[in-house]
Amino acid sequence: PIKQRLLVVANRLPVSAVRKGEDSWSLDISAGGLVSALLGVTDFEARWIGWAGVNVPDEIGQKALTKALAEKRCIPVFLDEETVHLYYNGYCNNILWPLFHYLGLPQEDRLATTRSFQSQFAAYKKANQMFADVVIEHYEEGDIIWCHDYHLMFLPKCLKDYNSQMKVGWFLHTPFPSSEIHRTLPSRSELLRAVLCADLVGFHTYDYARHFVSACARILGLEGTPEGVEDQGRLTRVAAFPIGIDSERFTRALEVPKVQEYIRELKERFAGRVVMLGVDRLDMIKGIPQKILAFEKFLEDSPEWRDKVVLLQIAVPTRTEVAEYQKLTSQVHEIVGRVNGRFGTLTAVPIHHLDRSLDFAALCAIYAITDVALVTSLRDGMNLVSYEFVACQNSKKGVLILSEFAGAAQSLGAGAILINPWNITEVAAAIGQALNMPAEEREKRHHHNFVHVTTHTAQKWAEVFVSELNDTVIEAQQRI
Ligand code: UDP
Ligand code: G6P
Repeated sequence: PIKQRLLVVANRLPVSAVRKGEDSWSLDISAGGLVSALLGVTDFEARWIGWAGVNVPDEIGQKALTKALAEKRCIPVFLDEETVHLYYNGYCNNILWPLFHYLGLPQEDRLATTRSFQSQFAAYKKANQMFADVVIEHYEEGDIIWCHDYHLMFLPKCLKDYNSQMKVGWFLHTPFPSSEIHRTLPSRSELLRAVLCADLVGFHTYDYARHFVSACARILGLEGTPEGVEDQGRLTRVAAFPIGIDSERFTRALEVPKVQEYIRELKERFAGRVVMLGVDRLDMIKGIPQKILAFEKFLEDSPEWRDKVVLLQIAVPTRTEVAEYQKLTSQVHEIVGRVNGRFGTLTAVPIHHLDRSLDFAALCAIYAITDVALVTSLRDGMNLVSYEFVACQNSKKGVLILSEFAGAAQSLGAGAILINPWNITEVAAAIGQALNMPAEEREKRHHHNFVHVTTHTAQKWAEVFVSELNDTVIEAQQRI
């Protein structure tokens, strides 16, 4: 059977480019949940359109990179430095990202951000049009265009303005906040209207979808129905499509000799100690300082555990040109240093903090040897790290401590210990509970989560979204 053609458009391509010479490039897998999930989308004839994460001002470089990316079915959108600064660092990651995660702007930046708002918003629209231009260049009739995330809220509008027959879906990988929060955005209405140009709009959870529909009702005065949002007889379908992972990619990896070798090494390295693990991009939303403070509280309260437990924190560098992220890095380093100074011995420290990414084999091995995973997001669209940990734990059956503010709490809540990351006493108690949990209870909880993670996969997620999009378009045609 001929697979349906799918144009997947996201700011971040699954591979990021590093320049090796005038016309030579190397490609690395990009970090983050969006890319991980999309790598699991295998049942379509898919092309990826997006930014390769690097500035390429010259034509020779652009041509060579376009060619290198084509082998990976990727098509680049070239963004100049000024655009990256205003659109990606500015509007996307200094305004939309914190707002959608209920974090607000830092006090001292608030006025500066308010002042630069208009130029950043203008760059955002311009950048979205640049993505649209590339989509249009590669579009063939019948293609499905699937736009992703908060970077591209204008894209559905740009595409439909060009050709109203295009089948356009948009999916948000972050939370969508309560309408009371969205209301504070100067560009609140324009953004909503642009998204509503899509045929189908998807979110991770029912709550996010409901927030979006009520924002359209309260801010735009449109009618929200159980199906979606209606504007003068035209319906934009809105629904929840919880994402998953390609769980077999992880279970298969655990069989690979290189991964087993890593597992042996790590087990030896941490013999006699219980391993706790955090894997996060070094982002404000992940609650890393809160996690370390809770761990410190646990060590304080439980002297008998001090030399028997270690916390590995993998903090993947991210958005390093945004000031807030730079501040977070030094803040985390300071806290880690303090706790290690306080509870370390001549031969061991309680926290191993890594400011770097891991390759896939090492990541799988670390997930597999962990006893307790700690996810303390203050808000998180879904959080795939929790899913990946579960997928790698079939022999260990470790415990997942999971923030109730991660989308994953709605799917893994029954198997995990749910916590409020702001409550350090509660998190410290959860650590104690996890470390002392009887094997039988651990197995039961793990089994619950494992069944969920292996049945609600990224492949299924994409299948359901695309088939819903096809149906929505057919229904709309019948209504005319
Ligand atoms: N990850 C990565 N490199 C690393 C460590 C982790 O690419 O060194 C991946 C991890 O496997 C996961 C993703 O980054 O798939 C993080 O996704 P999640 O949904 O947890 O959070 P996000 O980063 O999207 O906010
Ligand atoms: C989150 C966002 C993604 C983004 C990823 C990594 O998962 O939802 O859209 O790709 O973080 O962030 P970056 O800014 O490096 O693309």
